[in-house]
Amino acid sequence: MGEIEAHESKLYSDFAPFYDKVFGKIFYSRLRWVIESLKIPQGARVLEVGVGTGTSFPAYPRHCEVIGIDLAPDMLARARRKIRENYWSHLKVVEMDALHLEFADDSFDYVMAFHVVTVVPDPIRMIEEARRVCRPGGRIVIVNHFTSESPLVGFVTEALDPVTRHLGWRTNLRLKPFIHAAELSVETVYKLSKLSLYTVLVGSNQKDGYGLHPSPSR
Ligand SMILES: C[S@@+](CC[C@H](N)C(=O)[O-])C[C@H]1O[C@@H](n2cnc3c(N)ncnc32)[C@H](O)[C@@H]1O
Repeated sequence: MGEIEAHESKLYSDFAPFYDKVFGKIFYSRLRWVIESLKIPQGARVLEVGVGTGTSFPAYPRHCEVIGIDLAPDMLARARRKIRENYWSHLKVVEMDALHLEFADDSFDYVMAFHVVTVVPDPIRMIEEARRVCRPGGRIVIVNHFTSESPLVGFVTEALDPVTRHLGWRTNLRLKPFIHAAELSVETVYKLSKLSLYTVLVGSNQKDGYGLHPSPSR
C-alpha cells in the first residue's frame, strides 16, 4: 500500500455522497445529543472544524451563529446545499485548513471537532489552532474514536491503522497522551454508552496553563 494519509481519502471527495448516506446517518444522533447537552446560549459564536457535509447542522439551535470549515470542496458543496434547502441562515461554511485557521484570536465561544482529530495530519496542531481562536473560558468540544486502553483491543486497532488510513481515518490515537499533548483542560470526558467506540471530550479553554480533571466515565 502507498503512503496515503487519512485526510487524502476519496471518502471526502469522490465518495462524498456515500459519506452522507452511510456515516452521516450513523453519526447524527450522537452529535445531536452532544450539541443539545451543551445548551448553547443565545448569540454564541460557534466554529466547527472539519464540518464535512454538515452532519451536525440540524442539531444547532437557530439562536447561535455557526461557521463550518473544511478542506474538501465536495463535502462543502453538500453542506451548502443543505443550508440553502433548509433556509439555515445561522449556518455558513468556508473552505479552510483546520491547521491554519484564518480567524483572529478569541473569535469563538465554542470550537467543535467531530470525527476529525484522527483525520487531519496533525491533531495537536489542530487543537492549538482551535484554542487560539476560542475565547478564554470558551469550550473545545471533541467527539472521536480513540485507541482502546485495553492492551489487546488497543493492539488490534493500532494494527489496523494502515488499512483505515486508506479508508479515511487513523486508529492509533490514544486519549490521555492526546489530552496532555494538546494541553486541554478537561471539563468532562465520557462515552455515550458503555459499548460506544466514541468518546466525547469537553474542554474549557484555559489559555494560561491547563489541568487534567476528567469526570468519571458514563
Ligand atoms: C470523518 S469526516 C467528519 C465530518 C463531520 N465532522 C462529521 O462528523 O460528519 C472528516 C472531515 O475532516 C476534513 N478534513 C481533513 N483534514 C482537514 C483539514 N486539514 N482542515 C479541514 N478539514 C479537514 C475532511 O475533508 C472531512 O470532511
